[in-house]
Amino acid sequence: MTNPSLLILAGDGIGPEVMAEVRKVIDWYGAKRDLTFDVSEDLVGGCAYDAHGTPLTDETMAKAQAADAVLLGAVGGPAYDNLDFSLKPERGLLRLRKEMDLYANLRPAQCFDALADFSSLKADVVGGLDIMIVRELTSGVYFGEPRGIHKEGNERVGINTQRYTESEIARVARSAFELARKRNNKVCSMEKANVMESGVLWRDVVTEIHAAEYPDVELSHMYADAGAMQLTRWPKQFDVIVTDNLFGDLLSDLAAMLTGSLGMLPSASLGAPTANGRPKALYEPVHGSAPDITGQGKANPIACILSFAMALRYSFDKGDEATRLEQAVEAVLADGLRTADLIGEEGRAPVSTSEMGAAIIAKLDASL
Ligand code: NAD
Ligand code: IPM
Ligand code: MN
Repeated sequence: MTNPSLLILAGDGIGPEVMAEVRKVIDWYGAKRDLTFDVSEDLVGGCAYDAHGTPLTDETMAKAQAADAVLLGAVGGPAYDNLDFSLKPERGLLRLRKEMDLYANLRPAQCFDALADFSSLKADVVGGLDIMIVRELTSGVYFGEPRGIHKEGNERVGINTQRYTESEIARVARSAFELARKRNNKVCSMEKANVMESGVLWRDVVTEIHAAEYPDVELSHMYADAGAMQLTRWPKQFDVIVTDNLFGDLLSDLAAMLTGSLGMLPSASLGAPTANGRPKALYEPVHGSAPDITGQGKANPIACILSFAMALRYSFDKGDEATRLEQAVEAVLADGLRTADLIGEEGRAPVSTSEMGAAIIAKLDASL
């Protein structure tokens, strides 16, 4: 049997730093659990622009389409801020999501007990938190036409269009309902049906899919602005949240701070099941390239490591091994190890990116 293939696109900024720790974890699974991947590496984002003049080459795109799973670090950085829009690092990531048709972006926000005191919210508000944001990822205002900057008379106009078809809403709603059935059976759908027609359609379609296919799941609806407020007021009221591309982007960064740091949040971007029964998939931390800490050994690798745990679960049917890795992370945090992002004003000395990676490997060893 051939080994499953993994394409690693470490990207820019802290991407390669956190991905180096994921490589240690991948190697550990090969050496200790007989779980070997065919790993290849390629470029995306600013580094691809530097090498090839484009944030994603057609060759890399084809490799991503062929891989069993793609792991991505982060893209972007100030050096690329003034590039033509079509050449920006972020366009490489958006092309991957669109062409692989990765419409369901799973962004779990879990507050590990050891970090409950570190959140900017009170420990009893976030302690034990375990929610799943399902963000629509291939449509909405990120991709809608018309778009662009035009001249109207003597001033410029910037245009983006929020556009959703019924089938786009229906498929991501199904993803959310399916996940809820494996969790606490509750979905809250967020849009702004009070001001946006696309929100009215979103609410209608989610309601129809629920009634026809998932009446056993508890469904509620919230305006996304109120949802943001409720996420900070009492986040434990939620189980699965399903929302559009832009609201999901904002709400998942907000949810990150419930868990202590943006450096903690993993994600899985999944498409429809392919012929082998598994979805096309890309796994990446929710955070970006963190230019302010790049090259200093300060980056928290946990979001990227937990993204690999999601790959074990959703692409390779290794839920037990995913749990092993998640428990190793939890054990390291329980021991008090913290990268700089998880330390307050009067905190203890932080560990570096590679020390955090090594400590997680030691916990994996201890789990055998
Ligand atoms: P960012 O997520 O890169 O950083 C926000 C803040 O969080 C910074 O202070 C950073 O130091 C901190 N942070 C982020 N990840 C961390 C980690 N793992 N450990 C410790 N601290 C961490 O967001 P930004 O500064 O708004 O964006 C920087 C660049 O990244 C931009 O070019 C943006 O487009 C890009 N970006 C890329 C992705 C992605 O590749 N998926 C996601 C978000 C932003
Ligand atoms: C994310 C990022 C991306 C997004 C950017 C880098 C394209 O913020 O993955 O959350 O807006 O989707
Ligand atoms: Mn984002």
